[in-house]
Amino acid sequence: LRAVNEVSLDIFPGETAGLVGESGCGKSTLAYIIMRLEKMTRGEMFFEGRSLAEMSKAQRRALRPMIQTVFQDPQSSLNPRFRVRQIVEEPLRLNGWTDAEKRRERVLGLLARVGLGPEFMDRFPHELSGGQRQRVAVARALCLNPKLMVLDEPTSALDVSVQAQVLNLLRELQAEFGMAYLFISHNLAVVRYLCDRVMVMYLGRLVEIAPTEELFMRPAHPYTEMLLQSIPSLDRNRPLAAASNDEMPSPLNTPPGCGFHPRCPRAVERCRREVPGLSAVSDGRWAACHLALRE
Ligand SMILES: Nc1ncnc2c1ncn2[C@@H]1O[C@H](COP(=O)(O)OP(=O)(O)O)[C@@H](O)[C@H]1O
Ligand code: SF4
Ligand SMILES: [Mg+2]
Repeated sequence: LRAVNEVSLDIFPGETAGLVGESGCGKSTLAYIIMRLEKMTRGEMFFEGRSLAEMSKAQRRALRPMIQTVFQDPQSSLNPRFRVRQIVEEPLRLNGWTDAEKRRERVLGLLARVGLGPEFMDRFPHELSGGQRQRVAVARALCLNPKLMVLDEPTSALDVSVQAQVLNLLRELQAEFGMAYLFISHNLAVVRYLCDRVMVMYLGRLVEIAPTEELFMRPAHPYTEMLLQSIPSLDRNRPLAAASNDEMPSPLNTPPGCGFHPRCPRAVERCRREVPGLSAVSDGRWAACHLALRE
C-alpha cells in the first residue's frame, strides 16, 4: 500500500500551513513521516535547509525537540498513568533539564499559558475534559520551544465551542512564540480560519497548494471544488460543478492516470492515462490537473 506518493511541500518559518483531504488520503502518514515516527521508502527531508539524510545521528537527535506534535486523540497520546505534571515535564527531563525545581516552574508556566491552573498539576488524564487534555498536549508540545508543530486533527474530537477555544489558543500561542504549524484537518471552515496556505491531498498526492483565501474563492483543482461544495454555508462567488457522491478509492487500488478521474466531472480521455504533475498555475499556486492551466 502506497499511502503517500510523490508529495513535495515546504513549510515556511512561522506560517500556518493547512493539509486537508478526506479520511484515508494519507494526511497522518505524512505527519508521521515528518515526525519521523514512520520511515519513508523514498524521498528527502530538509530542516532549515539541511538534509536530514546528511546529518549525523547526534544532529538528527538534536532536531527532535524542534518538531513537536499534537494528535487528535489526547486520550491515547497522554500516558494514562502519568500525572499532568509528569506528562508535561517528560520532554524536559529527556532533554537535560536535571533541576526538578526548574522543571516544576516551567511546567506551571506552560500550564498557565494554555489556561490551566496549578490545581491541574497532579491530575491524571482521565480526570480531565477533552479540551483540558488537549491543552495539556499543547503545553507538552511547547515545552522545548519547537520551531514546527504538527497538529493532526487537534480539535476534531472536541465539541464545537471547546474546539473554538482551542483554535484561538493555538492562534495566540503562534503569535507569541512564532513557530510554524502544519495543521491537518478535514474541516475546511477550521482551515480557513487558521491557515495562511492550504495544501489539498487526494489519494496520497497533493493536488493543490494555494494561499487560503485564493483557494476558497477560486479553487484550481476539481477536487478542491468538490470539497468546497461539501460545505454549503460558505460564501462563494462562483457556481460549482455537481458534487460526486461516491467515495475515494482505496490506495490499494488506485485508478490509472489521474487518481481523481472516476469522480471528476471534467475528466477527459487523457485523464485516464496520464498522471498530472503538480505545476504552477500562478504565483504561489500549484495544481495537479491536466485542465488547471487552461483556466
Ligand atoms: N500502518 C498502516 N498499515 C497499512 N495501511 C495503513 C497504515 N497506516 C495507514 N494506512 C492506510 O494508509 C492510508 C492513509 O492513511 P492515513 O495517513 O491515516 O490517512 P488520513 O490521516 O488522511 O485519514 C489509508 O488507506 C490507511 O488505511
Ligand atoms: S486531471 Fe482530469 S480527472 Fe484529474 S482532476 Fe484534472 S480534469 Fe479531473
Ligand atoms: Mg489522520
